[in-house]
This record gives sequence, C-alpha cells and structure tokens, in this order.
Amino acid sequence: MSKTPKTTAGISRSEYARRRNRLMAELPAGSLAIVSSAGEQLRSRDTFFPFRQDSDFLYLTGFDEPEALLVLVPGRTQGETLLFCRERDTEKEKWDGPRLGPERAMQQCGLNDAFPIGDLDDILPGLLEGRELLYFPMGRYAHLDKRIRNYLERITAAPNTGGAPEMVDLDYQLREMRLIKSAQEIRLMEQAAKISAEAHSRAMTRCQPGLYEYQLEAALLHTFVDSGARETAYPTIVGGGSNALVMHYCSNNAQLRDGDLVLVDAGCEYRGYVADITRTYPVNGSFSGPQCALYEIVLAAQQAAIEQVSVGNHWDHPHAASVEIITQGLVDLGLLRGDTQGLIESGAYRQFYMHRVGHWLGMDVHDVGDYRIHGAWRQLEAGMVMTVEPGIYVPEDDESIPAEFRGIGIRIEDDVALTNRGPQILSAAAPKAIEDIEYTMLHGRDLLTR
Ligand code: GLY
Ligand code: MN
Ligand code: MN
Repeated sequence: MSKTPKTTAGISRSEYARRRNRLMAELPAGSLAIVSSAGEQLRSRDTFFPFRQDSDFLYLTGFDEPEALLVLVPGRTQGETLLFCRERDTEKEKWDGPRLGPERAMQQCGLNDAFPIGDLDDILPGLLEGRELLYFPMGRYAHLDKRIRNYLERITAAPNTGGAPEMVDLDYQLREMRLIKSAQEIRLMEQAAKISAEAHSRAMTRCQPGLYEYQLEAALLHTFVDSGARETAYPTIVGGGSNALVMHYCSNNAQLRDGDLVLVDAGCEYRGYVADITRTYPVNGSFSGPQCALYEIVLAAQQAAIEQVSVGNHWDHPHAASVEIITQGLVDLGLLRGDTQGLIESGAYRQFYMHRVGHWLGMDVHDVGDYRIHGAWRQLEAGMVMTVEPGIYVPEDDESIPAEFRGIGIRIEDDVALTNRGPQILSAAAPKAIEDIEYTMLHGRDLLTR
C-alpha cells in the first residue's frame, strides 16, 4: 500500500462566483443564460458509465450531479444565479448515494436561489418571458433543446406575454474564459500532470518483452486511482511496435515484443482537470540505433517547439518549429529526399508527421478555445495551457524507406503552461531523454526484483 495521497485544494467557492459574475458581466441586461449539467449515460442494459459532469456547468458551479440546470440572470449591477437540481430522496439516496438537494446546493455553491428540477416547467417559462436573448448551449443536450423550444413556442403563442427571447449560443464567452487558466486551475493541472508523469515512470519500470499492452495500461491506471484520480482524461493508448502508427489505437491487447518500441499516451483527470502525456520507449529497455536516430529527431523537435511556447508568439510558431526539425531530420536520415524548405512547403513531411504539434488542455483533453481569431493564428497569452506533441510515424509497408525504420512510431507529448517567465512544463517529471528512460527502465527493474 502506498502512502496516503496528498490532496490538492479544489476551486474555491469565491472563484466559482467570480466566474459567474464575469460571464454575466459579458451578457447584456435583459438576457438570460442557461447552462445544463450532463446526463447519466447508459452503458448497457441497466448499467451506467461513471458520471462525468459537463465541463461548462462544472466550471461555473462545482456542482457534480446530473439533472441540474444553472440559470444566470444578468442585471445592471449584480446578476442573479439560480439552480435547479434533484430533490433529496431518502429511498433513492440509499441506493445511489447522497444528493445535495436545492437548499444545500444553493449554500455550497454560493448561489442566490435553488429549486427542485421537477419545478422547472412552473418556473422557467416565467423567467424566459419578456427576455430579449436566451444564451444557451444549443445542440448539446437534445432533450433540453426540445424542452426549451417548447417553452418558447408556448410563450410566443400565448396572448399578453412579454414575448419569447431569441436563442443565442453561449459557447463563445465560456470558451474564451476557460482558455485562460487561473492560479487555482494551474495548481490542479500541475497535480493531474504530476500524477500522470508518475504513472508513466511506473509503467516504464514495469515494461518488458512478453507483457501485454493492457498490462502496461494497468500500471498507469494503478497510479492514477491510487493517487485519487479515478478517471482517465481519454482512453489510454499503449501501442507496441507498429500499433503506434494508429493514432487512436486503444485496443491495447497485443503482446510487447523484444526489439520494438512502445508508445504510451495516457493522462488522468484530477478534480475536473486533465493531463495528456505521451512517452515512447524500448520494450527491452535499450534503444536500437535506428530507434535512437528517429527518437532524437522527435525530441529535438519537441524541445524547439516548447521554446516557442512563449507569450506574444502565435499559435503556429511551435508547430512550425517542430515541422522544420522533423523535416530536416528525415532528410538527414534519407527518409525524405529533396530540399528541406521545398518539402515543408509541399507538405511532403506529412507522410511521417500528419498531426499538429498540440492542442489546448484544461477541463477537456482537447480543450475549448479558438486557435485563430478572424482567420489569423491566435497570440499566445499567460494562463493558456497546451500540449506539445510532435511525432514521427514511419509506414510499415513502404519499400522506398530503409527497412530498419519501417513500422516505427514515436510521439513525445508534454503539457505546457504559458507564463510571463516562459513555458512551464507541467509533465516534466516523466523521463524523456534517452539516457533517463534507459536509466529508469534499468533501475526500476532492479528495484522490483529486490
Ligand atoms: N491523447 C489525445 C491527444 O494526444 O490528443
Ligand atoms: Mn494530446
Ligand atoms: Mn495524448
């Protein structure tokens, strides 16, 4: 049994209130905003997936139950915040666990008022009447879309009402807010990355030929859950050999072979915030010459890209840096032929590096936030968090490529926060230099056999 995990404080009640106030300050008086909780998802017959709250709803409330609705009523000074949620129910709570109920939810979340979700039909139409605009996450929850449209139709059809509001998508304001992380959010992301980096290190020490990919997955999951991170941010990828070439591989059921590399892409979710880390290493603990040659290119590309994760640069700078190094490296090794700049301009490098260098990271693995503003790449700002994950994936069956490189897939992925002092690598604790990986694999194994 490992030591009791240290827990990190979550988001404070006052930060949730600040978020709601900021959002309301951006919405015109006379409007209303509705943000919905997620619903429970059926897995099979009468079994449900573990509940995952809607990220926007969680961002604004910290309330972690299904069947809930947040209503924001912006005002000239302070707006009103209302919650609809499930009532307490002694019988149901015996089976499914405690519910906060409106009264306690209102207090814990610091809201102005709360009502049973069963009263929605009686209360919400009255709040909608006479509003000019209704901000609403359109198309996300079909049952809610239907219900709201129904209310609006009824208001429009009834005589002597103030009229029904026009529906507007709420997405934009929330995307922009969630893109810039607060100090409290960065602390949670540091914790998610720390747990995930530890999980990668542990998997490295477990790795050996003959193991099944899912057994490495188990090593990662053990650390996640043991550290209080009960969910993964996305399905874990453990791809031995050429399985690494399948971007969304997650069957994880092949045997790891001596002489192959294994690509492991895994991150946990901690208190609503996620990590997304990839490490690629030799199954037997030692890189071969060709593996080493390709790995060093990806590592150099990643380092060059991370250097470009700098306030004032734009979104494409890190990607362009990685493309430059990967293309040059592939030319040097003879996998690409021609002039480097020409190969970049024609996109020929995409045969081996077919994705972009990263994405925003936060409450969701591919987090919200626009990458372009009015068609131009967005400027990087302090508080943004992104992944930096270049890769080289050499096709298995292309006979024009030297045989020793065929079927090798390598990606190195870290989570990087933008600060005014430069990039902060949240996932730095996961070994990635060749000597660090080989050392960890060798000594980790020694420790395990003692
Ligand atoms: N693991 C998903 C990604 O790297 O984007
Ligand atoms: Mn990623
Ligand atoms: Mn990833």
